[in-house]
Amino acid sequence: MEQSSDLLAVQFRNDPRVEQARELLAAALADHSARITGPRPPRPELATENAQLIDRLTKARGGAPYFPYLSSGLGRGPWVELSDGSVKLDFIVGIGVHGLGHSHPLMMQASIDGALQDTVMQGNLQQHPPSIELCERLIAWAQKSGAHLDHCLLSTSGAMANENALKIALHNRAPASRILALDNCFAGRSIALAALTDRPQYRTGVPLALAVDYLPSFDPRDPDGSTKKAVATLKKNVERHPHQYANLWMELVSGEGGYYPGSTEYFRALCEIAREQKILITFDEVQTFSRLSEPYAFQHFKLDEFADIVTIGKITQVCATLYGEALNPKGPLLSQTFTASSASIAAGLAMLKALEDNHCFGPTGRNMERHRYFAAKLGQLAEKHPGKISGPWGEGMMIAFTPGSGATKYAQDFVYKMYHAGIMGFVAGHDPTRIRFLPPPACTTEADIDAACSILDEVLANMPQE
Ligand SMILES: Cc1ncc(COP(=O)(O)O)c(C=O)c1O
Repeated sequence: MEQSSDLLAVQFRNDPRVEQARELLAAALADHSARITGPRPPRPELATENAQLIDRLTKARGGAPYFPYLSSGLGRGPWVELSDGSVKLDFIVGIGVHGLGHSHPLMMQASIDGALQDTVMQGNLQQHPPSIELCERLIAWAQKSGAHLDHCLLSTSGAMANENALKIALHNRAPASRILALDNCFAGRSIALAALTDRPQYRTGVPLALAVDYLPSFDPRDPDGSTKKAVATLKKNVERHPHQYANLWMELVSGEGGYYPGSTEYFRALCEIAREQKILITFDEVQTFSRLSEPYAFQHFKLDEFADIVTIGKITQVCATLYGEALNPKGPLLSQTFTASSASIAAGLAMLKALEDNHCFGPTGRNMERHRYFAAKLGQLAEKHPGKISGPWGEGMMIAFTPGSGATKYAQDFVYKMYHAGIMGFVAGHDPTRIRFLPPPACTTEADIDAACSILDEVLANMPQE
C-alpha cells in the first residue's frame, strides 16, 4: 500500500542505504542457503552441544519436544539445517505454517519490511497500513465467488480466531448456546475449543465450557449412507434441543482428525438444514486455507453461500476471523492487545502473493498437481511394500498415508524412523493413526516429492511388518 512520500517513514524506508542493506542481506542469504542441497546426517562433533540444548529445552518447557528438532536458522525451501548439523526435508513445516519453506528470500524481505516499521507488534489500538491491505486481500479472496464475508479480524493464533468466531455466532444467536460439530474435529487449545474438539484427552480435568453434539463424518466408502446418517443425526439433535443450536462448526478436510475430506453433497445436505433452522455455519480453515484448489476450502467444495463465519491461520502467518456485516456484533465483544507482529503482517501479504504467483490454485494449479504426483508415488510405494503402507488420503497439499494397520505405536515409531532418515511428517487421527504431510505449497517441487519418496522407500524397507 503506497503511502505519501511526504511522510518521514516513507523517506526512511526509501533511503538508499536501506535498499543497499536489503540487497546485501539477500545476496548473503542466497549464497549460504544454496549450500543446502539435500539430506545430510547429523554431524558427530555437534552431538553433545545439541543434546545439551534439547535438555535445556525439555527442562524449560517441562517436557521433551516431539522431535529432537532445533533449527539452526537456515534452510532452502522444504529443506532445513538442524542444530545437530543434519539437513532434513521438512514436509510438515511447523504444522502447515511455512508456505515457502525455510529461508525463502521473500519471507526474509517481509521480515525486514516488518523491522522497518516503528513497532514490533501491532494491535487493535495501533495498526499500520499493511494490516488494512492484508484484511482487504483476505476479504477480496473470500468474496470472489459470492460469499458474504465483509469483515476480517486479525489475531495471533488459530485458537483466538476460533474463539472470536464462536463469540460472533453465540452473540448473534443468543440465547441459543449449543454447537454442532463433526466427529474427529480439532479446533484449538482454549477451554471453549477443548470442549469443541472431539478428543476427550485434550480436556482432561478441564470443565466443559460448551455443549457440543457431534455428527458422523463423511465416509468415502459409503458416501450416500454416511451423508444420510449425518443428516439424520442433525435432525434428531435439532428435535431434541429445539432452537438451542447457535452454530454448525465444520472443518472441510479434518486435519488433526486424520485427513478426512468431506464431499460437496455431504456438506450441502448439512448446511441446508442448518439454514432452515437458523443455525449459523462456521468453516474452520485454520489448516485447510490455501492448500486445496481454491484459497478457501469452502470455495473448493462450492459452499460459498453457506460461509457465515470463516477462520484461517497457520500459512497466513497472521490468523483471522471473517464474517458478514449481518453478524457484526453489537457492543465491544472483539478486541485484542496484539493482532500480530509487523513482520507477520508483511509476511502474510508476501505469502498471499507467492501463492498466486506460483499458480497454487485452480483445478490444474500447483496444489492439485502436486497432490496427484505425490499420491501416485505413495501408491507405488504401497505396491512395493505390501502391508506396510496404504492410502493416500487427504486433498491438495494435505496428504497422508496409513502405516501398517494404523496402530498408534507403529505410526509413532514410523514417524521417528522417518525423522532419523531425513524427512519430517507428523501423526494425525486415531483408529487408524495416519502420517500426514503439509508440504509448503508455494515452493514444493516434484524433485522434493521424489526425494521424500526415496527416503520413505528406505524407511519402509527397514520397517518390520506390524
Ligand atoms: C483446524 C484447526 N483449527 C484450529 C487450530 C488451532 O490453531 P492454533 O494452534 O494456531 O491455535 C488448528 C491447529 O492445528 C487447526 O488445525
